[in-house]
Amino acid sequence: MKVGIPKELVPGERRVGATPTTTKRLIKQGFEVLIESGAGTAANFTDEDYREAGASISPEARDLYAQSDIILKVQAVNDAEIELMHEGQVSLSYLWPAQNPELLRKLAAKGVNAIAMDSIPRISRAQKMDVLSSMANIAGYRSVIEGANHFGRFLNGQITAAGKVAPAKVLVIGAGVAGLAAIGTARSLGAIVRAFDTRSEVAEQIESMGAEFLEVNIDEDGSTASGYSKVMSPEFIAAEMKLFKEQAKEVDLIITTAQIPGREAPKLILDYHVAAMKPGSVIVDLAASTGGNCVMTKDGEVYTTDNGVHILGTLDQLPSQASQLYGNNLCHLLDDMGKAENFKIDMEDDVVKRAMVTHNGEVNWPPEPLPVSPPKAKVEPAPAAAIPVVDEAAEAKKSSRKTALTLALIGIGMFLLARVAPSEFMGHFTVFVLAVFIGWQVIWNVTHALHTPLMAVTNAISGIIIIGGLLLTKASFSEPMTIVAFIAILVASINIVGGFLVTHRMLKMFRK
Ligand code: NAI
Repeated sequence: MKVGIPKELVPGERRVGATPTTTKRLIKQGFEVLIESGAGTAANFTDEDYREAGASISPEARDLYAQSDIILKVQAVNDAEIELMHEGQVSLSYLWPAQNPELLRKLAAKGVNAIAMDSIPRISRAQKMDVLSSMANIAGYRSVIEGANHFGRFLNGQITAAGKVAPAKVLVIGAGVAGLAAIGTARSLGAIVRAFDTRSEVAEQIESMGAEFLEVNIDEDGSTASGYSKVMSPEFIAAEMKLFKEQAKEVDLIITTAQIPGREAPKLILDYHVAAMKPGSVIVDLAASTGGNCVMTKDGEVYTTDNGVHILGTLDQLPSQASQLYGNNLCHLLDDMGKAENFKIDMEDDVVKRAMVTHNGEVNWPPEPLPVSPPKAKVEPAPAAAIPVVDEAAEAKKSSRKTALTLALIGIGMFLLARVAPSEFMGHFTVFVLAVFIGWQVIWNVTHALHTPLMAVTNAISGIIIIGGLLLTKASFSEPMTIVAFIAILVASINIVGGFLVTHRMLKMFRK
């Protein structure tokens, strides 16, 4: 069986359907590989590389289409290419079937069995063939790198001899595959990251990556059984707009990735959001090709607004790496379809029957839905009466009353004891009681979350030093022992107070 890889004709498309590495893999699967001369040039692969990998070079697309049983492409074929195709030929490429019914009709009329790689269902088994995920992952990473490049400052915060630099604030809208990749990259570069999505199920993923999940005060969830988001109500979008207006004033970089499959991207960043942004801020619109999430995005262009905001409607595709991952996705699908020896279009297969959008002259779209995973049952909050309400102020009052009572009881006990006990005993006993009291206060007043063994031990030791110092202190500073005791008390107190100050500052770093 012959697999043909023609040149990509869409301007700006630098990827290719197979790399020299995936060519070797296709040959291992039993296919003969034909590649059009120069097809890999834009992705930095030469004809010689493909020849070395075992492919034959075809100088003409016409010959390649005529000889191949399977065509591997990135972008959808155009009319001229369909002309070169023949009945029964299988093609694998992006097709965006919901937006291109006319293209499907033409492919079906030609008898081409076309697989839309963008319509591979998002089930666990098909993850290895999911080109949307592999490409979105690259786009998410790249959006931060290129956004940072246009942003004239550091992304991370720094404390240098020359002064303090605050970290940049990044807002990621849409936390699907691209959004999560962007969050991970921005966090690893040290930025403060916030993210918003209509699907509340992603909140945990966002937070586990170190970003803050922003919410609106509307009880509506975008989750669907397909794993994608649905179109949200006008009330929800209005609340989202309001949230973004507040964020636009604060953040330095906005990365938008919001998409609704088969539809134009929702418009989420309007003129007044852009106007509210600081000069030098950046918007990277990953939905540019489907209409853009920002109304001012120009697809394929980097554009600077009058108020100095850079809007990126294009990103480097990283064509070598993207072709490698895309090619791997195609190889996985061909593997699943039986490789060269047992190649079969199995219309009973969950993946093939949904991605094969034209089959035996018929248009096979839209497919029957296949849930990604059962949507999580919404956990209803327990009735208010069942939740024990903790009144912190009352608790604190109760605790200080308890301390005062304990102190009063100790005082009365000591007074009574002093009446009967010898005065020498009372001196030692008072010191003992004070030591217990100070040790208790020093250790017990630390928040339990901070009760590290180190903290407890150093505080306990410092407490003992203070008591020891007090014991050795005499009325006059002329005695060397008193001076040493005083220094010991001072150093131990610095240790305790300093420990609390450092802890407080550390906690402040986590409060953004
Ligand atoms: P996508 O590219 O279609 O959308 C990106 C994000 O935009 C989504 O998270 C969506 O909820 C969000 N969005 C839509 N409208 C929005 C709005 N008005 N405001 C804010 N955000 C909005 O989605 P993507 O990244 O391709 O994947 C979506 C989900 O599909 C994943 O999170 C995952 O659950 C599922 N998936 C499953 C796979 C599998 O199991 N094989 C593979 C990949 C994804």
